[in-house]
Amino acid sequence: MKKNLLMWDETLFRDPEVFEVDYVPEQFHHRETQMRELAYQISPGLRGGRPLNTICKGLPGTGKTTSVKKLCTEIEENTKKLVPIYVNCQIDNTKFAIFSQIYKKLAGHLPPSSGTSFKQVFDAIARIIQREDQVLLVVLDDANYLLYENEMNKVLYTLLRSHEVYPGTRIGVILIVSDMAVDLQREVDARVASVLRPTEIYFPPYTEEEIREILRERVQQGLYAGVLPPDMFDLVVEQTIESGDLRVGLDLLKRATLNAEHSARRSIERDDICKAYDISRYLHLSFTIRVLKPEEKQLLAELAKMAEGEQEMNAGEVFNRIKDTLQIKYTKFYEMVRKFDAMRLINLHYRSGRGRTRLISLRYEPSKVLEQLA
Ligand SMILES: Nc1ncnc2c1ncn2[C@@H]1O[C@H](COP(=O)(O)OP(=O)(O)O)[C@@H](O)[C@H]1O
Ligand SMILES: [Mg+2]
Repeated sequence: MKKNLLMWDETLFRDPEVFEVDYVPEQFHHRETQMRELAYQISPGLRGGRPLNTICKGLPGTGKTTSVKKLCTEIEENTKKLVPIYVNCQIDNTKFAIFSQIYKKLAGHLPPSSGTSFKQVFDAIARIIQREDQVLLVVLDDANYLLYENEMNKVLYTLLRSHEVYPGTRIGVILIVSDMAVDLQREVDARVASVLRPTEIYFPPYTEEEIREILRERVQQGLYAGVLPPDMFDLVVEQTIESGDLRVGLDLLKRATLNAEHSARRSIERDDICKAYDISRYLHLSFTIRVLKPEEKQLLAELAKMAEGEQEMNAGEVFNRIKDTLQIKYTKFYEMVRKFDAMRLINLHYRSGRGRTRLISLRYEPSKVLEQLA
């Protein structure tokens, strides 16, 4: 056997964990300003007061989740009085689900799933924080998902006006939004706006140099020396910049390394990266599809099949073609279409003329969408 072949029990990964999406890196640079602003926002909470409300806004892969998670860890290491609760709204996007997560954090377990009313959960939460004299910091990550489900106002109203029902409770929120088109302050109704009054913290895209530095650190941490030759590293950086999302770059590193391992090679070659990029570049698509409900997946599949024939589809015609198969009313159909638009799966636009025609076009190749749905 050739000496430079990898043995079956050998690996190229020094630490595979560092390429996972939810990994919180120890080294975290280029976000010092945002971290400082976040610390300022929550500081009243450290003194027993209510934290100031915050919106973190920026494109995907700009370090929002990581910054806030680091903040939560820091709080937990320093005090028991301010309790951070992290909620991923892609998964928990109803008022009940979110308050169940808060309860879980405080009580150590989820409330019984059947026969528990919202009021019971809320009562229990209020009892605990009054007894322990705790302040809550509720982080709603990817909060735009609450808009699609029409839960935003309900959730924020209940959280931010809780002291009206349970005097003495103090709750602040951090809302994280990756959709630059969403203006939360305009989306919430007046009763919520009057108590939300958030400070917005902007997370700008990383520069090419910053992306290069972040990826280099990760490679040093995650792969053995020599696994990724310099010119191959450049290629990874180039493709990450092209995709515009650091998460694609990290996923790309993981897949390219696995490809090299699969061929029992000790270093990564161009082909490993190109093959990996073909999958990694659809990371956003696969993440988004994963959180869709069954009926939404069904509609998206129908849209993708139609899009194979025509690029721009008339919303009314699409509805007529799918209403019997999917058994839905137009309002429901249109709600889902608007959600797809907000999730960047499709483009929804108008053509003026006689009446306003709504047109739908897929943002991805139909075959890729169908592949991911399979
Ligand atoms: N400044 C940074 N240094 C190191 N890694 C980072 C940095 N910013 C982001 N990352 C990494 O990039 C990925 C995406 O970051 P994330 O915080 O999830 O972004 P967002 O929530 O804005 O989409 C994560 O894996 C994270 O570890
Ligand atoms: Mg995030």
